[in-house]
Amino acid sequence: MSISKAELIGALSYALDLTEGQAEGHALRCCFIGMTMAEHLSFPQDQRGDLYYMLLLKDIGCSSNAARICQLFLADDLTFKRDFKTLNESLPQVLHFVFSHTGLKAGLAERFRALVHNFTAGNITHELIETRCQRGAEIARQMRFSEAVATGILDLDEHWNGSGLPLGRKGAEISPLAQIALLAQVADVFHTASGPAAARREIARRSGKWFDPALAAVFATVAADPAFWAALKAPDMESRIKRFAPSDATETVEEDFLDAVAAAFAEVVDAKSPFTSGHSKRVALFADLIAEELGLSDEHRRHLKRAGLLHDIGKLGVSNQILDKNGKPDDDEWAAIKSHPGLGERILSRITAFADLAVVAASHHERLDGRGYPRGLTAEALGLDTRIISVADVFDALTADRPYRPAMPIDKAFSIMDRDVGLAFDPDCYDALKRALARVEPVLKAAA
Ligand SMILES: [Fe+2]
Ligand SMILES: [Fe+2]
Repeated sequence: MSISKAELIGALSYALDLTEGQAEGHALRCCFIGMTMAEHLSFPQDQRGDLYYMLLLKDIGCSSNAARICQLFLADDLTFKRDFKTLNESLPQVLHFVFSHTGLKAGLAERFRALVHNFTAGNITHELIETRCQRGAEIARQMRFSEAVATGILDLDEHWNGSGLPLGRKGAEISPLAQIALLAQVADVFHTASGPAAARREIARRSGKWFDPALAAVFATVAADPAFWAALKAPDMESRIKRFAPSDATETVEEDFLDAVAAAFAEVVDAKSPFTSGHSKRVALFADLIAEELGLSDEHRRHLKRAGLLHDIGKLGVSNQILDKNGKPDDDEWAAIKSHPGLGERILSRITAFADLAVVAASHHERLDGRGYPRGLTAEALGLDTRIISVADVFDALTADRPYRPAMPIDKAFSIMDRDVGLAFDPDCYDALKRALARVEPVLKAAA
């Protein structure tokens, strides 16, 4: 089944909205706003393709500072990021923001320490934005997008008057793609929160500070048309932005590109928490070892590796306050954790050719005996791919560091998993993993 670049990137942009705590479709709406602006600006035709992709991927580095936000502010990273974008520069507002987002759920002493730390640590915002921008640009390069797309992502938080981050670039030094994207982002965030008038006011207010006055003036013209705002509210944004898509976006993507995109999004997921660092990649590797043992075809193995890379994509929608918690989750937190398979399914099922991957994402925490989550499915409903990924997933979870315990040696992990063979895990898949690891263990030991 074929898949186009536009369909793939458009669908995956929903995963980025989740991580930013934005209303669903934020990246698509930014694409619509930015590309509409480009038409009014007579933006060079040969750069519009880059602008289109940059607008959809502007937040691709976003997950990489989530854990740090939580650590520093003891706050929910998703709410923090959402509200941070509606912040203007007045001191009372900034102070109110810091107080209201620092450690809402933490004890008073922790909250106090976090506040002191925030005020004394200096360049925290700088560090957060730098990480996000640099990681984002790196991931875009990894997905083989142009240098213009990568630089656009890198410059997203730079301001026209030089007050932005991370480099304090000024005026024309800032990537023109980033200038349009920042304006589109502010317009969408304020429009979604408070309507068209608020968006227009905010863009005008930041003209000459955040935005080139000429660009803000073009936005004022675009925003004078009621049809523009009506379009932004329409439910079919995915098809509305199609007319802006560059010609290569409608071509069927190559298998190699799909692999690169799956690997890049695995990094976005894994970068969210220090405890999941490398998890998706390792699950893909363990799944491939099992598949090789089971004699699956090369094509099947390639598909399975993508399933491993993307199985936890729904975790982008779960706060780090929960993912990194050192202790037992309470009922609400547990409910949030249990939502990640469903969120992953929703993201991946937007891509027709990823229907099988969506099934794996939805059911990788189910068990053969029906005691898994979120649906409590039983053996008959769990296909081979899901069974392989769930063995690989639990094995990696046990043998990697967790917030509440250190990594376990392989033997101990197996002795725990042994108890659940036939109940949680498929015996054939489990044996295959054991055989595969027994074969590589001497190599691992020799290398150690
Ligand atoms: Fe998971
Ligand atoms: Fe996982």
